[in-house]
Amino acid sequence: MPDNMYEEILTQIKPDSVFLVTGGAGFIGSNLCNVLVRHGFEVRCFDDLSNGFRKNIEDLLEYPNFQFIEDTIVDFNACLKATEGVDYVLHQAAWGSVPRSVQYPLIYEQINIQGTLNIMEACRQNSVRRLVYASSSSVYGDHPKLPKVEGVEGRLLSPYALTKSVDEQYGRLYSSLYAVETCGLRYFNVFGRNQNPLGSYAAVIPRFICAALKDEPVQIHGDGTQSRDFTYIANVIQANLKACLAPSSISGNVYNIAAGSRTTILDLYQMICDQLGATPRMEFVDTRPGDIKHSFASIERAGEDLGYKPTHDLAEGISLTIDWYRKSY
Ligand SMILES: NC(=O)c1ccc[n+]([C@@H]2O[C@H](COP(=O)([O-])OP(=O)(O)OC[C@H]3O[C@@H](n4cnc5c(N)ncnc54)[C@H](O)[C@@H]3O)[C@@H](O)[C@H]2O)c1
Repeated sequence: MPDNMYEEILTQIKPDSVFLVTGGAGFIGSNLCNVLVRHGFEVRCFDDLSNGFRKNIEDLLEYPNFQFIEDTIVDFNACLKATEGVDYVLHQAAWGSVPRSVQYPLIYEQINIQGTLNIMEACRQNSVRRLVYASSSSVYGDHPKLPKVEGVEGRLLSPYALTKSVDEQYGRLYSSLYAVETCGLRYFNVFGRNQNPLGSYAAVIPRFICAALKDEPVQIHGDGTQSRDFTYIANVIQANLKACLAPSSISGNVYNIAAGSRTTILDLYQMICDQLGATPRMEFVDTRPGDIKHSFASIERAGEDLGYKPTHDLAEGISLTIDWYRKSY
């Protein structure tokens, strides 16, 4: 993606602003660091490397305006130190994956809830200008309504979803009680460069692309008719930057960040096969506990309040992502 595609938004942010990106060595965090550092902002990347990789930020380490802090958000004092003198916190650090959270609920409670609360409290004590934090489409739980609209949520289906829902409540509370400006972004199945394709908890798009590139079978959970609103990383970067710039009146709110369309897993498989000219064998396996059947977002509210407008649809995003995996794996 061209580095200058965010220029119009970036130039509206004060040039001497200091950013803290938690989870900055992970998929989304490293993409955020990359854009912010190259634009010239002072950026602190905070990550314990539990699921992120030094290679995602390797080429940023030579920039004098980039600092890598290897530490955990579970340590409040580390959060307090990292947020000193910071204007914007883009909080991405968390353990992802619905099925993994079903296996390890205690870890999710500690990192995603206690860790996020530590970051919020550190923002309060250090008078951070705004905290933009990652939430998730999983907070919609079992509510059947499509598209998903903020405020119409069902019963939660996994520990992961619960942690994100609690984070949102703290986000609201910190805004109303302590006047910390918070904005939650409910990401819908994000994909793009630097996403880890390996391991049993990897997301579907990098798994499919890497399997197809190596001509290995792809695993499909359930019958493949489940659908998702796949969101290219450029759209998520745009949303984070716009959430920093939005007026104070949005504080405490949460917004769907998605492409605003839905695709079944079988159609996704076909799209990747068509673009790669490959037909890896499909292996159908059990549905995963905690997964929702359909996910598709209304992005109206993010459009109205943040000025969010996706720039890349699924096909464009897949093409750029395939190019990246071809070069990198
Ligand atoms: N990728 C998606 O589709 C998606 C969808 C919805 C929500 N989200 C949320 O977006 C955020 C970023 O997700 P991602 O896909 O980049 O995941 P990721 O696993 O690639 O990145 C998360 C990063 O947080 C770091 N981290 C984990 N625990 C930490 C701790 N205790 N202290 C410091 N760092 C820690 C990891 O090492 C990793 O680098 C997460 O909060 C995730 O829940 C992602």
